[in-house]
Amino acid sequence: MELDLKKLKDQAMAEFKKSKTLADLDKLETKYLGRKGELSAILRKVKDLTGEAKPKIGQLANQIKLELEKIVAELRHEFGHLADKAKPAHYLDITLPGQKPALGHLHPITIITRQLEEVFVKMGFMVLEGPELESEYYNFESLNIPATHPARDIQDTFYIKDQPGWLLRTQTSNQQVRTMEKYGAPLRAIFPGRVFRCEATDVRHETTFYQLEGLMIDKDISIAHLVTALKVMLKGIFKKDVKVRLRPGYFPFVEPGFEVDVSCLLCDGEGCGLCKKTGWVEMIGAGLVHPKVLQAGGLDPKIWSGFAFGMGINRLVMLKYGIDDIRLFMSGDLRFLEQF
Ligand code: DAH
Repeated sequence: MELDLKKLKDQAMAEFKKSKTLADLDKLETKYLGRKGELSAILRKVKDLTGEAKPKIGQLANQIKLELEKIVAELRHEFGHLADKAKPAHYLDITLPGQKPALGHLHPITIITRQLEEVFVKMGFMVLEGPELESEYYNFESLNIPATHPARDIQDTFYIKDQPGWLLRTQTSNQQVRTMEKYGAPLRAIFPGRVFRCEATDVRHETTFYQLEGLMIDKDISIAHLVTALKVMLKGIFKKDVKVRLRPGYFPFVEPGFEVDVSCLLCDGEGCGLCKKTGWVEMIGAGLVHPKVLQAGGLDPKIWSGFAFGMGINRLVMLKYGIDDIRLFMSGDLRFLEQF
């Protein structure tokens, strides 16, 4: 058996050294060292031996196994080097597909806000952004909503702790008096921006959302001006004529005030889930600027008049794209965002 082992070793060594490729080497390795290989066959017989022969032969067989494994490893290393040398140093396979960098894109709220801005800029409106951290004065009082007024209850407000009189604006109307003070009259401006309310969230309510406010001050401004501006805006977004309906509505800073409904674009006025089967979607608050607000802005209500409106941009975007949950906008969920 000792002789068998030595013969096997010499034969294996000779064949290993003759191999020229990795494939040759692999085959020989299986032949001699594999589980069903020749050396394993001998090793399996060792357990049947008795007496002194058992440890002696066992040790020899293991030693031969180690030697053979070493030579295989050396040859493998050598072949590997040769294969590397065959490749040019800077090997570039131009047929491989490239790696695409992940590109970001605009949020649907931003896309629609920019379209709205474009429509109003064409009608001669300035685009102004105001502060999100606001005083009670500009958010409420200057808009004819004194501290004791029940209209404050409708807008659940985040007040700033330790800063009495300061809050997160609940509406973009905070810009009305600020802008009159700064620019005087006549005046045309829109105020897109983020507003905050202390709301319990659900599919229709968010604590943070976006509004577009519009303000036009001039002489003899009427509701016809307001309706025209709104229709031009809606046509700019929906690319078709959209019907609007005015209902009386109460907002302390306009007189008269309206709730403006838009004909439901999902069902074309037939009645569906979005419009609660009425054919109309409530989307805009509007009216003619209250004399007290003009006065707060330093304008004489006997000379100047104006219209104002405020619209929820989220709701407009939901109507445009058929989105059924307002919370998706702030979710950061790429499965949602990548659809735009
Ligand atoms: N600021 C109101 C709100 O957030 C919306 C609004 C209503 C704005 C009437 C206006 C307006 O300018 O005239 O509920």
